[in-house]
Amino acid sequence: MSAQRWAFITGAGGDIGGATAALLAQRGWGVICADIDGAKAEARAAAIRAEGGAAQAMTLDVTDEAAVNEAARAALAIGDVRALINNAGRAFGANMRVMDYATWRRDMLLNLDSAYLCISAFQDHLLKQGGSIVNMGSVNGLGMFGHPAYSAAKAGLMHLTRVLAVEFGDRGVRVNAVAPGTVRTQAWDERLAANPAVFDELTAWYPLRKVAVPADVAAAVAFLVSDDAAHITGVILPVDGGISAGVTKLYQSITQQQ
Ligand SMILES: NC(=O)c1ccc[n+]([C@@H]2O[C@H](COP(=O)([O-])OP(=O)(O)OC[C@H]3O[C@@H](n4cnc5c(N)ncnc54)[C@H](O)[C@@H]3O)[C@@H](O)[C@H]2O)c1
Repeated sequence: MSAQRWAFITGAGGDIGGATAALLAQRGWGVICADIDGAKAEARAAAIRAEGGAAQAMTLDVTDEAAVNEAARAALAIGDVRALINNAGRAFGANMRVMDYATWRRDMLLNLDSAYLCISAFQDHLLKQGGSIVNMGSVNGLGMFGHPAYSAAKAGLMHLTRVLAVEFGDRGVRVNAVAPGTVRTQAWDERLAANPAVFDELTAWYPLRKVAVPADVAAAVAFLVSDDAAHITGVILPVDGGISAGVTKLYQSITQQQ
């Protein structure tokens, strides 16, 4: 099956990227599923094709400049890429006391530099044809939720979003970010194995009293790349069950009301 417009999604072998690819494909986008784990990317693309969607897989390390440039060339040979979704990411150093410089650099490279590389690789095409970019931020870039280097990288990524929204605005390229709170994905597998109650514990902190599933984030990304968001750029959209607005338990302690 062919599609008129294509989305390039990094980390699409993972849970949020995969859910985003599947949703965009349902909405008529062709999707290029890029992931350092080529087997996962291929599995996702194959599942989308099996549902009648247009999908291609690519093995890509988003921290490798030459590989990113080559992937962009290959992607543009597949189709007219009008959406770049910088989703690949993960947190390495849990706190400052355990973080050496190599870990700091790893967090920065994967969570911030990678977006620079992908945007650089696609910008000529996007600025010529128009389109949009969605960066996968995090509530970690808005407040203190641990993982200092990851948080600093996500804050940088979200500020880059605003900067590029202004720089690219008159060229018809919108740049937005989403900032998820806790999302039930494989990124939590180690913590879940260590503490099977981790999501129950976390749920108590969220105003909506639940953590997100990948489809919640995918829906926000799909909205931001859609024509429904034609006048929206430079926005950081929290998909966080309300936690960036406040913490229920805290206001209850302050007001001494339930
Ligand atoms: N899960 C959460 O609670 C949560 C919260 C806020 C933000 N996020 C962000 O959402 C994004 C997706 O995370 P997820 O929870 O779906 O995790 P995930 O582990 O399910 O998916 C991440 C994917 O990125 C891929 N990846 C890792 N390094 C890569 C590289 N160098 N090049 C290309 N691909 C690479 C992995 O192979 C994996 O498939 C990340 O940017 C993460 O920081 C997640």
